[in-house]
Amino acid sequence: MAMNTEIVELNEQNIDIEKLMRAAKIIQNLGTVVLPTETVYGLGANALSSTAVNKIFFAKGRPSDNPLIVHVCSIEMMEDLLKEPLDLRAKRLIKAFWPGPLTLVFKRSDKVPLEVCAHLDTVAIRMPDHPIALKLIELANVPIAAPSANVSGKPSPTMAEHVIQDMNGRVDMIISADRSRIGVESTVLDISSPVAVVLRPGGVTLEQLQEVLGKDGVILDKMMDDVVDKPRSPGMKYTHYAPNAPLLIVRGEREKIIDYVKGKIEKSVSSGLIGVLCSDETKSEYQGAHVISIGSVHRLDQGASNLFAVLREFDRIGVDVIFAEAFAEDEMGLALMNRLKKAAGFNIVDV
Ligand code: TXA
Ligand code: MG
Repeated sequence: MAMNTEIVELNEQNIDIEKLMRAAKIIQNLGTVVLPTETVYGLGANALSSTAVNKIFFAKGRPSDNPLIVHVCSIEMMEDLLKEPLDLRAKRLIKAFWPGPLTLVFKRSDKVPLEVCAHLDTVAIRMPDHPIALKLIELANVPIAAPSANVSGKPSPTMAEHVIQDMNGRVDMIISADRSRIGVESTVLDISSPVAVVLRPGGVTLEQLQEVLGKDGVILDKMMDDVVDKPRSPGMKYTHYAPNAPLLIVRGEREKIIDYVKGKIEKSVSSGLIGVLCSDETKSEYQGAHVISIGSVHRLDQGASNLFAVLREFDRIGVDVIFAEAFAEDEMGLALMNRLKKAAGFNIVDV
């Protein structure tokens, strides 16, 4: 069943338009193209075509009840997709954060294929802040639906090599470019009702949204950090962003985390390879384990950006179990911890 995937290298500083035109043709012909964005790589197809969008679900092995984000390169391009004209709040959000890592959920028009919105009466839209993505949408002249370009359940791809691992043979073209600048997905904000709700924390922080909407103008979804897709049948493991090895988050004061993890390392010297996901401030503590730092606790934006690559690195090394330090849940730490908790299947120990 493997497809013939063309891999095309592009430089975002100096885009080869002829090569990008080939990608645009594939989108127009209802094929699939992996494209770089500032958040993570996306698996794109013509958002106005059910046939094209179904190929995305097939390539990812994604359940069809999980809706997709539609990517646009201009405001005009989204007008057809919306039920109502943009209101003042939407305009202010767009002015503040587009192009950029904010996805807005609107009431949708009938032009949105049901596959894109998974039969909901809303549609999620964003304008990516990446020259290759924007130019591709412009050349294709249609909005592009694109989930993260990982195989369903795996960490999202922030580097071309991750995409090639996951998608070679499953899509028509992969555009290989630089590492994703933000490295964690967009914030999903539902503005289809009076109070804006953060459905997924991401590249735009809650604090930034509050500056535009006011403190009472935006809330976090109660279910945001919950095991929403919790296995309906027991025994089925919840997997999202999951590395191959079981992952346990250790939460508490720094010294207590260190003691707990060190105890685990000492106990299992002979019983297998232990991975530790930690910060620059603590990485020298865990002798005898395979230690990967996500960076300084004072730069959790960089930590969030490194997370998916670090999770994939543990797979490459082949550790048997991973202990992860918990990080502060403000600013970009909120998105970082949201992904880490999902990767851990909500396995957390408080020390
Ligand atoms: O940064 C990103 O958003 C990346 C890049 C490629 O743009 N895309 C991405 O897509 O993360 P995906 O499919 O992996 O995640 C889309 C998220 C899911 O949590 C989905 O449930 C939510 O957006 N979503 C999409 N449409 C929605 C809707 N109509 N209502 C509520 N949530 C929606
Ligand atoms: Mg995803």
